[in-house]
Amino acid sequence: MQAKSFRDVDLHERLLYSAFLILMGVGYLMAMAYLYVSHQMHDGKPGVSIEDIAFSYYGNRSGTRLESAIRGTMSGFLQPEERHTIVAWLQEGGYRPGYEGLVRPIIEQRCLACHGRDIPRAPGQPDLSSYDSVHEVANIDTGMSLLSLLRVSHIHLFGIGMLLFAVGMIFRRAQLAAPLKVTLILLPYLAVAVDILAWFLTKWDPHYAVTVVTAGVVLGGALAAQILISLYQMWWPWRGKIVR
Ligand code: HEC
Repeated sequence: MQAKSFRDVDLHERLLYSAFLILMGVGYLMAMAYLYVSHQMHDGKPGVSIEDIAFSYYGNRSGTRLESAIRGTMSGFLQPEERHTIVAWLQEGGYRPGYEGLVRPIIEQRCLACHGRDIPRAPGQPDLSSYDSVHEVANIDTGMSLLSLLRVSHIHLFGIGMLLFAVGMIFRRAQLAAPLKVTLILLPYLAVAVDILAWFLTKWDPHYAVTVVTAGVVLGGALAAQILISLYQMWWPWRGKIVR
C-alpha cells in the first residue's frame, strides 16, 4: 500500500508533525552551535577548521617540551637518527612500551649525565631518568580517549538513528521523484555510519578529519531537506482542503 501523502493527513496530524519537525530542526541547530563552541579553539584560532576536528580526535602531538628541546637547545647531544626515533615515538603517542624498547637506551646514553635523578640540576633542567619523569616533559595530547569515543558513538548511533527514523516516517509522505526520495531517506543513515567510523579513523590518522566534516555536512543537509520539504508540502501551496 502506498503511504498516505500529506494531503490526506488531517489537521491534528499536521500540527503534530510540524511541531516535532520544528523542534528537531532547532535541536539540530543547537547541536551545531555546541560543536562550534566546543571545537573552535583547539588550534588557537577562531572558527572551526579541519585542524580543530583533527585536534579533538587525534590530539596535538607535536610541540611538547621534549620535542622542542631535542630539536633546539639539546639537539647537539643527539645523532640525527636518534632524534628521529624520539620524535616518532612522541608522535605515536609516547607510550611506555616504545619508551622502554627504543627511547630509554638513547636517553640513558646521551642525556642522563646532565638529567639524572641524583645529580645537581638547574630549575629548568628536568629529571629524565624514568618513564614518568620523561612523560612530564612529553605531555602529549592524544585527543579523545577510546573510552569517550565509544561512549559518544553509541549515544550518537541510538539518538540519531531514532531521530532519522521518526523524521523519515513523516517525510515518506512527501511527493517527490522516487529516486530522490529514496536517496534523501537513506543517505543520512549512511552519513552517520561513515561519520562515526571516521572519528575512529581520525584518532589514528588526522587526515580523516575531512571525512568527519563531509559526512556531518551530508547528514545535516539530508535532515534539513527532509524537514523543510515535509513542512513545505504540508502547509505552503495549500494542498487541497485539509481533512478534519
Ligand atoms: C651537558 C649537559 C646536558 C646534556 C647532555 C643534556 N642536557 Fe638537556 N638541559 C641541560 C640544561 C643545563 C638545561 C636547562 C637550561 C636549558 O634549557 O638550556 C636543559 C634543559 C632540558 C630540557 C628542558 C627544556 C625546557 O623547555 O624546559 C629538556 C626537555 C632537555 N634538556 C632534554 C634533554 C635531552 C632529551 C637530552 C639528551 C638528548 C639532554 N637534554 C641532554 C643540560 C643538558
